[in-house]
Amino acid sequence: QYVLVVGGLGYIGSHTSWELLKEGYSVIILDNLSNSYKTALERLERLKSEHYKGKACQPSIEFYECDYRNEAIVRFILNRHKTTEQDIKNPQPTATGQTDIVGLIHFAAYKAVPESIQQPLRYYSNNVAGMIDFCTLMGEYEIKNFIFSSSAAVYGEVTPPTGRIPEDYCTHKTTDWTDVNGNAHTTHGGCTAITNPYGRSKWMCEAILNDLAISDPSWSIMALRYFNPIGCDPSAIIGEDPRTPPQNLMPVVIKVMTGEIPALTVFGTDWETRDGTAIRDFIHVTDLARGHLAALAAVVGASPIKGFHTFNLGTGRGQTVKEIVTAMETTSGKPIPTNPTGRREGDVKMCVAEPVKAATQLHWQTEKSLQDCCDDLMRFL
Ligand code: UD1
Repeated sequence: QYVLVVGGLGYIGSHTSWELLKEGYSVIILDNLSNSYKTALERLERLKSEHYKGKACQPSIEFYECDYRNEAIVRFILNRHKTTEQDIKNPQPTATGQTDIVGLIHFAAYKAVPESIQQPLRYYSNNVAGMIDFCTLMGEYEIKNFIFSSSAAVYGEVTPPTGRIPEDYCTHKTTDWTDVNGNAHTTHGGCTAITNPYGRSKWMCEAILNDLAISDPSWSIMALRYFNPIGCDPSAIIGEDPRTPPQNLMPVVIKVMTGEIPALTVFGTDWETRDGTAIRDFIHVTDLARGHLAALAAVVGASPIKGFHTFNLGTGRGQTVKEIVTAMETTSGKPIPTNPTGRREGDVKMCVAEPVKAATQLHWQTEKSLQDCCDDLMRFL
């Protein structure tokens, strides 16, 4: 069974591809290398060969260096995976009987909050318009099991009473719901507290996918709202290796540790938190990648979930920026110079997942700790 992984050589894409391969899925990776390197492909091949050493049969990796908006190449790939003729000779259980691609995971989006404020049209064009055209094509080829990379950024500035944000804080239709304290709420679909164009682009995609699933109930769409992925595969063979200058916290910390950047600029030390720095839910990237497999299992299983669904992928625990720096200092035994400055535009004080929905409906939960993240990163370094 093939899974089409769009943006499959990036940080989260490569880790998810690796988890898919371990599970026995073959992967078709499409990546324009705008923020990744082809070495990630060689590393995936190496991991796969070592994992399946001595086995008669192993899954394959098919790679295309192309933009997911390149319709001609995408059509070429999809035509190669049509099973109509093949099925007559060698029937295989497939999602639709027309293709051997059982699911699609879409990572190919821009993701830097500050950049999205500077270049909103570039974000809406790639993240939103690109996804619309891509879904149109996928629908034509009957590939309708879709795992979408969404983000906690769709929540924006919200203050849930428990400190953890449930999915109901951002919905696409008016929803009545009760929080863990028994208080009744109504969320009006479309009404959110998003603070930047990146988050808005993800929200728009979700809203469009929700409409699509209503219009055609044969779609199964899982929007996975990522919190803050860090760490790398325990093998340290794959990790975060962006082509463009990193803007997320942990890759910048790593650059300070390697001496490429003199000090970490800490954006905001006056937030109302335990140490004045912002709080995030840092999740090990392998846990996050496994969340995609859980979502895929729910849409390709014997009784697949149909329609549009949202899930938080986070730990439910919050750490401050300063705590992350201290954890890396302790693990490495070396100081990390910091340079406190004002708040970064588009940032929020606190963003921590309520992960219970994914636990109950996808049977997924995180297994790794912050210490695992730091240890794996040190090995990668
Ligand atoms: C945001 C999204 C997250 C998404 C990510 C993709 C929110 C709440 N979260 O993450 O779901 O996966 O974008 O990029 O919108 N920081 C510094 N110095 C630095 C870099 C970061 O102090 O050099 C601070 C930031 O100000 C922030 C925290 O570290 O308070 C985390 O920042 P970052 O790693 O960029 O992720 P988010 O913006 O939280």
